[in-house]
Amino acid sequence: MSQKDIGNKIPIYKLKAGKEVEEYYDEWTVENKYDKDMVDWKYSGPQETVNLFEKHISQKNIKILDAGCGTGLVGVELKKKGFTNIDGADFSQKMLDLVPQKIYKNLFKINLNQKVNINDNTYEGITCVGTFTFGHVYPQALDEMVRICKIKSLICFTINIGIYEEYGFDKKIKELEDNNSWKIIKFFKSNYIASKGVNAWLVLAQVIK
Ligand SMILES: C[S@@+](CC[C@H](N)C(=O)[O-])C[C@H]1O[C@@H](n2cnc3c(N)ncnc32)[C@H](O)[C@@H]1O
Repeated sequence: MSQKDIGNKIPIYKLKAGKEVEEYYDEWTVENKYDKDMVDWKYSGPQETVNLFEKHISQKNIKILDAGCGTGLVGVELKKKGFTNIDGADFSQKMLDLVPQKIYKNLFKINLNQKVNINDNTYEGITCVGTFTFGHVYPQALDEMVRICKIKSLICFTINIGIYEEYGFDKKIKELEDNNSWKIIKFFKSNYIASKGVNAWLVLAQVIK
């Protein structure tokens, strides 16, 4: 199947980054439709990502950012694994409004395609699931993630396979390895939204800067 076909499987993949995507997500929250669709689609990204992240971390109180947290599906999985110090950030306020109580310590609005208002070396781990996909967040966001993480932090994220080369994620991952910003610990194909024939690369990187 060509990458274009993958791009047309889910309507959001045809949108342009920014306002169009934000409005689409805002609308997707009506009657909790996003969460219901994820159940119907057997969306496994959050669980797969958190399983990998957790296997490589022994301390449960590390400060984690769930970047592009949406309605909190990843936060819920992190909490189940015992993590206690998680912030969530997303640019759809309506997605943030659906996050259950007591999952995140802080929730804030963010645009991951811009320089983010977070100090260097703030976090000890980042999860980012479903956000590196068609018309959403671009590879430059990975530079910011490295910047806001402390040395030895783990960054665990998915990249929709259909955009991996087209958007230059292959080059960005290599650049960050070549300039000793991080080392890649795991990189493999995950099921992600297998029911829709959409898969993602699941990546675990350790910040070494
Ligand atoms: C497929 S959802 C994934 C949400 C959540 N991580 C999950 O796995 O359910 C993608 C999320 O990325 C957010 N998003 C898209 N573009 C963004 C941007 N430029 N900055 C921040 N968040 C963005 C959307 O609002 C949406 O909540």
